[in-house]
Amino acid sequence: MYLEELFGVKGKVAVVTGGSRGIGQVVAQGLAMAGAEVVILSRSPADDTLRKMSESGGKGYFIKTDVTSQESVTEAFRQIMERSGSVDIVFNNAGICLHKDTLEASVEEFRQVVDVNLTGEYIVARAAGMIMIEKGIKGSIINMASMSGSIVNIPQWQCSYNASKAAVIHMTRSLAVEWPEHHIRVNSLSPGYIATPMSVDTPKELKEAWMPLIPMHRMGKTEELVPADLYLASSASGYTSGSDVVVDGAYTCV
Ligand SMILES: NC(=O)c1ccc[n+]([C@@H]2O[C@H](COP(=O)([O-])OP(=O)(O)OC[C@H]3O[C@@H](n4cnc5c(N)ncnc54)[C@H](O)[C@@H]3O)[C@@H](O)[C@H]2O)c1
Repeated sequence: MYLEELFGVKGKVAVVTGGSRGIGQVVAQGLAMAGAEVVILSRSPADDTLRKMSESGGKGYFIKTDVTSQESVTEAFRQIMERSGSVDIVFNNAGICLHKDTLEASVEEFRQVVDVNLTGEYIVARAAGMIMIEKGIKGSIINMASMSGSIVNIPQWQCSYNASKAAVIHMTRSLAVEWPEHHIRVNSLSPGYIATPMSVDTPKELKEAWMPLIPMHRMGKTEELVPADLYLASSASGYTSGSDVVVDGAYTCV
């Protein structure tokens, strides 16, 4: 009961971008099990997520959305307000990664990564913020960053990804300072290596190279991000804003 009051999100409307698979899928399930109505915004279908949410007693729906398109995001939030009447929590999670060294990657590829990871999160946070401010909703926005926003991963080169995630961390701080008068909290989540489709496709040699660098000598599980997300989404984190919550098996400590 005590924990439910602290960490519960019952009756809240939670928006999860990129919730069709990976981290977004598991966090969507967690938010639904904790009592939120979960709206998945993703460019790919989320049938699997909706089925898993419903099997665990949760409820929610999907709206096909491209987070890089302001028009698409605005339309998605219009539909959410029409159907659910509120936007209380946003898990701004959709993202892509490119493993290419800088001289090989084109400027256009750099732009694509920044467009999804940074501009996409900005478009979503801004659209959600506008609704929260207009309706007087004391919302929580959780921007997906990465440990790559603070360190440079080796041995793979991923300059565009690292730069985009560093910018997400500082965008988060900027919004956290801009929006307290509207009672909106904005935090970022920075995972280390997590086993998801994004990283499962990674060559075996690369993963073998990562293990000695992770003090806990293993990749994280998607479920291990749910408690941090619930903390940031719920009133348990009422005095936490502008924080970057790192869940990385101690990678960034060494
Ligand atoms: N997997 C990791 O090790 C790891 C570590 C740190 C941070 N992250 C971050 O976590 C987030 C999720 O990663 P994941 O591993 O679950 O990846 P994933 O590739 O499994 O899932 C990404 C999701 O984003 C969606 N998406 C991509 N571009 C989109 C767009 N333009 N519009 C709407 N949806 C879009 C995809 O459809 C998919 O649902 C990303 O922001 C990623 O950078 C992942």
